[in-house]
This record gives sequence, structure tokens and C-alpha cells, in this order.
Amino acid sequence: MAVGERDPITGHMTTGHEWNGIKELHTPVPKPVWFFLIVFTLFGVIWTLFMPSWPYGTGYFKGWLGIDQKQTVAKQLEEGKADRAAWTARIEKEDFAAIRADADLMGVVRETGHSLFGDNCAACHGTSGAGNLGYPNIASAPMLWGDAPETIFETITVGINGADPDTRVSEMLAFGKNQILDRPAILQVVTYVRSLSGLEEPTEANAAAIDAGREIFAANCVSCHGEDAKGKTDMGAPDLTDHFWINGSSRDAIYHSVFYGRQGHMPSWGLRLSPLDIKILALYLSDLRERQHAAVGDGT
Ligand code: HEC
Ligand code: HEC
Repeated sequence: MAVGERDPITGHMTTGHEWNGIKELHTPVPKPVWFFLIVFTLFGVIWTLFMPSWPYGTGYFKGWLGIDQKQTVAKQLEEGKADRAAWTARIEKEDFAAIRADADLMGVVRETGHSLFGDNCAACHGTSGAGNLGYPNIASAPMLWGDAPETIFETITVGINGADPDTRVSEMLAFGKNQILDRPAILQVVTYVRSLSGLEEPTEANAAAIDAGREIFAANCVSCHGEDAKGKTDMGAPDLTDHFWINGSSRDAIYHSVFYGRQGHMPSWGLRLSPLDIKILALYLSDLRERQHAAVGDGT
């Protein structure tokens, strides 16, 4: 068969080879495929010249551009450290009000404070700071010891009934166990305390108990909880008129508080965390509290 014969079925030319009547079609690799093959091969070769590539026993070819990812990472770490040093120095040095007024620093405080809180505090106070039974809500409830950022810093540092010699000391007396009040008197003062926050509606049936409870309260409780039962921050005694309860608000829970007393333990974080971390936490909590109150709209 002659070269250049056209196959009638496919329309391709043939190569001129023939085996037992079978003819080979001439179907060369298409031009675009050649094109891409050449371009990519060239690209590959050139890339290996510029970038770290060929290994040779004791090392590898570093490439003409001299790019080294280890050095790049080390440089980024250096820069990160310098950045951190700049803001740690400022948070350490500046006072609470100045830091709170600085949006950039507060950005750092929110981020770092969030992880510090998650690592150290969330186990007891909950991830959002809303507390658990036995552990107070520190995101929105009034603070037992006061809520200025400086005061919160101090509370976190020394703890409450903690191991620090300067710890805040807080004790709700065991009025029943220590036989200061008998059972009927405790039941009356419990009814009175619950009436302060609307948990107990005054009815004919409990009016006498509330009146008796008010007197018992005046004689036994006001020294710590205040005449108005709104608590005293110098004693760490909680406000009994709001809807925040550390240990529960049921009759049983409050009876337990008055009968056996309460002595919450908050670790002295100054023994475990740096002053910088505690300052960040105090700022973080103040900021969190302010935003919670703004969200609720009571402006306090
Ligand atoms: C082991 C549990 C526990 C852990 C962990 C813990 N706390 Fe507390 N915290 C308490 C208890 C209990 C109280 C309430 C003490 C009381 O009833 O007098 C408290 C109270 C507080 C108060 C309130 C003080 C006030 O004036 O009302 C603040 C603020 C506080 N904690 C911050 C923190 C921070 C910040 C961390 C993390 C560094 C943390 N807590 C970790 C148990 C804990
Ligand atoms: C010596 C001061 C003191 C006296 C007196 C005192 N309390 Fe307290 N009370 C506290 C402190 C401090 C706490 C918080 C304890 C803690 O959580 O560590 C507290 C907590 C409570 C609680 C628990 C609140 C909650 O959120 O769970 C109740 C209820 C309470 N007191 C009622 C009374 C009543 C009723 C009397 C009087 C019969 C009284 N207290 C007398 C200091 C006192």
C-alpha cells in the first residue's frame, strides 16, 4: 500500500505499514499536548533551579533564590515575639482605665483573656462566666468583693478562702449547726429572704413568718448582708435581693445555706499565674461584664 493513502472509514492517513491486511493509521500526538508537555517540563526544570530542590548525599541544592522555610518561620516567630513584647509591656505598665480606653490593647485582652479564662476558670465558672451551682456567675452578677477592675485583679490574685496569706476570707455562719438559731427561726428567715427577691409572694399564710423572719434577719444577718440585704463588699457577703444565687434559691438550698453556712473556695491565682495574666483576666472580666450589662440594658 502506498504512503499517504487515506483510510475511508476514519478519514485518517495511514503510515504505510500493513500486517496481514491490517493497516496502521497515522495519528500523531496532537500539537497542544506537545506544547503543554514542553512548557511544563521547562517550568519544572527552571523551578528546581530557583527553589530548594535536588538532594545530594550531605544536603540539598538551596536554589538560586535562597528561600529557606525554616528561616522564614524563625523570622515570623521573632516578629511575633517583638509584637507580643510591645503589648505585654504596655499592659504591664499602663493603668486599667488607659488600657480599657485603647481599642488595640483591648483586642489583645479579649483574645488572650478568652483563652486564659478557658484554661483556668471555665471549669468552675463556665465558659461564658455564667457560673454553676456553688460557683458564682462572674459575667453579670454583682461582685461579692466589688467590681472595679483593680478590685477584681486583687480578688483573683489572693483568692477567696484560698492559700495566699492575704486571701479574702468569707464565711457564712452555720446558724443551725452551731445552734445560733433553731429550726423554726431558720424557716422563718428563709421565707423572709425569699420574699426579698419575689420568690415568696406575701400571703396570709406566710405573712407572720415573713415578719418574724425580718426581725431575725435584723438581729443576725445585717452585720454582713446589710440593713437592706443588698450585701456588703467588704465582707464578701452577697446581695440577697437579686435573682443571682451562688448555691441555689429553693427553700431547701437557702435553708442549707443558713443551717450549715457556706464557705466558697476560690484559688489564690497569684500563686499560679503571672501578674500580667491576672491583669489580662481582670480586664477581660470587666469588659465582659460591661458588654453583658449593655446587652441587658440596665447600664450598671
Ligand atoms: C475551683 C473552682 C474555681 C476556679 C477554677 C476559679 N474560681 Fe473563681 N470563684 C470560685 C468560687 C467558689 C467563688 C465564690 C467564692 C465565694 O462564694 O465566696 C469564686 C469567685 C470568683 C470571683 C468573684 C469575686 C467576687 O467579688 O464576687 C471572681 C472575679 C473569680 N472567681 C474569678 C476567677 C478567675 C478569673 C478564675 C480563673 C483564673 C477563677 N475564678 C477560677 C471558684 C473557682
Ligand atoms: C459573718 C457574716 C455573715 C452573717 C452574719 C450572715 N451571712 Fe449570709 N453570707 C455571708 C457570706 C460571706 C456569704 C457568701 C459565702 C460564700 O459563698 O463564700 C453568705 C451567703 C449567704 C447565703 C447564700 C447566698 C447564695 O447566693 O447562695 C444566704 C442565703 C445567706 N448568706 C443568708 C444569711 C442569713 C439569712 C443570715 C442571718 C441568719 C446570714 N446570711 C448571716 C456572710 C454572712
